[in-house]
Amino acid sequence: MKRITIAIDGLSSCGKSSTAKKVSEHLGYPYIDTGAMYRAATLYFLQNNISSDDQTAVTAALDNIQIGFHRSEAMTNDVYLNGVNIESEIRKMYVSEKVSLFSAIPAVRHLLVAQQQKMGENGGIVMDGRDIGTVVFPKAELKIYLTASPEVRAQRRHLELVEKGENVGLEEIAENLRLRDFNDMNRAESPLIKAEDAVLIDNSEMTFDEQVQLTIDLANQQI
Ligand code: C5P
Repeated sequence: MKRITIAIDGLSSCGKSSTAKKVSEHLGYPYIDTGAMYRAATLYFLQNNISSDDQTAVTAALDNIQIGFHRSEAMTNDVYLNGVNIESEIRKMYVSEKVSLFSAIPAVRHLLVAQQQKMGENGGIVMDGRDIGTVVFPKAELKIYLTASPEVRAQRRHLELVEKGENVGLEEIAENLRLRDFNDMNRAESPLIKAEDAVLIDNSEMTFDEQVQLTIDLANQQI
């Protein structure tokens, strides 16, 4: 059976990661959350007091950043920064507030894109992010561009963070999503845009299971 590359891009908090994870489990493919890689790099810069305004310092620090994925006891693919599990730390608001500033820096993107291309060089992978179908794997057999209304996305993200015990308001989240979408869509280096050959799915009115099934059906057409 052919092992295809599935690229899932889209706006912040529209369910890319949870969809990608489910689809990867169904197909038996590895899943890579590239947002987690940008978040991990951002955490490193913040921990080391490196500002996104100082591109020379950011570029110099890249050699000290090792990002890896390992299966946790809960069987999730946790992200590690220099050997430390940072899966829950990178989801916090202070990282979300800065990540799109660091991810706009070309040297950061070049490093992480090269790592992502290496992880998927043999196909049979599901990867989600902002530039997977346009830059990382422009020849992916299946490209999905996910979107949902700003209200639905903010509510989903709010629920997710509250469940994790983070005390954060809906309006603060909505503002963070607005800002990140704006930064991600307007940066000079590989901005978030729908690849011409991507299938657009607006999941505002869909259940999670419906969107997973739709993606699996689209994947099966390519296999
Ligand atoms: O997917 P997630 O919301 O965790 O991504 C966090 C941030 O990482 C995005 O807002 C974006 O700035 C950056 N990102 C990116 N390219 C990707 C994945 C994420 O620029 N492929």
